[in-house]
Amino acid sequence: MSELAFPPGFVWGAATAAYQIEGAIEADGRGVSIWDHFCATPGKVRNGDSGAVACDFYRRFPEDIALMRELGLDSFRFSIAWPRVLPDGTGRVNEAGLDFYDRLVDELLAKGIAPCVTLYHWDLPQALEDAGGWPERATAEAFVGYAEAVATRLGDRVTHWVTHNEPWVASWLGYGWGVHAPGRTSDEDAVAAAHHLLLSHGWALPVLRSLSPGADVGITLNLAHVEAAETSPEHAESARLIDGNLNRWFLDALFRGEYPDDMPYAPPVHAGDLETISAPIDFLGVNYYFRILAEPISAGQGFPGMAHVPGATYTDMGWEVNPDGFHACLARVARDYAPPAIYVTENGAAFGDVRLHDGSVLDPEREAYLAGHLDAVARAIADGVPIRGYYVWSLLDNFEWSHGYGKRFGIVYVDYATLERVPKSSYYWYRDFAAARREGHTWPVSA
Ligand code: FCB
Repeated sequence: MSELAFPPGFVWGAATAAYQIEGAIEADGRGVSIWDHFCATPGKVRNGDSGAVACDFYRRFPEDIALMRELGLDSFRFSIAWPRVLPDGTGRVNEAGLDFYDRLVDELLAKGIAPCVTLYHWDLPQALEDAGGWPERATAEAFVGYAEAVATRLGDRVTHWVTHNEPWVASWLGYGWGVHAPGRTSDEDAVAAAHHLLLSHGWALPVLRSLSPGADVGITLNLAHVEAAETSPEHAESARLIDGNLNRWFLDALFRGEYPDDMPYAPPVHAGDLETISAPIDFLGVNYYFRILAEPISAGQGFPGMAHVPGATYTDMGWEVNPDGFHACLARVARDYAPPAIYVTENGAAFGDVRLHDGSVLDPEREAYLAGHLDAVARAIADGVPIRGYYVWSLLDNFEWSHGYGKRFGIVYVDYATLERVPKSSYYWYRDFAAARREGHTWPVSA
């Protein structure tokens, strides 16, 4: 029987995003973001929750970095809030906002943790949305100025840059389906937004390379493994459309310099855009949460029509736990697109965690989820997929967008009344698992 292992130098990480953890939305000259605005719009976010306080990471980050160190993290993935750096989106740089990230990066490095920085994790300055948002090409131009301001300050110390987190979510959930900020509902806007997000990635690449020489630069996509739930032509057609919308649209553009020709979209492409978008990257970030078992899409219904699997485990998000889908997704990306390296920049699960009478939090479901998905990563590595690291989503329970504080993804529990941090049993599980892998412990192939 063969054994599974992680290669030496594999990066063990944890991921977060600015609006989900920082709080302090009025501190040190931060401008307003589309998420402040969206949260203040009645009916958009569960329970009227917002990121105004969140985990108060802005003030408590030294305590959280101490937790990361105890966890043995090699790298911490966080995002920068654009409105802290450029409160109006363009123009005046707010040095006090950059000071916060400067201190954060220094504290991480002092504790031996490599900063992996995402530039855009969805908190667009409201001023840019008022001027038309991502469906406008000017927003992509503004992003380059923002990238330049951040890299000018942090480029000497950051070793991994992620230009965008999940452009599919930012465009489709934000501009197409209206369930994320800014809450618009136009397919045409979503397609234009997606194009400008990708274009801004391409434009930012040379800026990051020149201001942060030696750093690796990539982009993170949310990918799903899509299968037809049944073997009918209607099911196959639905699977093709969902895969095209979610996966191929972004992968084809980034790795082949073309959009799939079987999708009913008309992105506002100018000459040279696709060359810009498909410039070489150092790594692809993959965020993976679930597979999609495609049901036929009926007229007027947004995708996905997702089949329910009897007997399967579902997370608190209603997402099926299916590690084999993760393995299939990673293998497909390597086979069809051959990225030079892959980081799993997010993977994890929400469960209804509660504190026990003794104050502890036991989350064996999350331990099982992580174990199954890390097994899938190790199998993909054994198959030759160039996976260099894994970031669990998330270090902390946090503001889960339209679900507010109702979904807990952390390996550290956050008591929102007191902001106390309580490492869950999965935190210790992850610490011990990573430590054993670093020492070279292997385990048998499971599937
Ligand atoms: C991803 C997001 C992340 C978090 C997880 C659960 O789509 O990138 O911010 O919300 O889902």
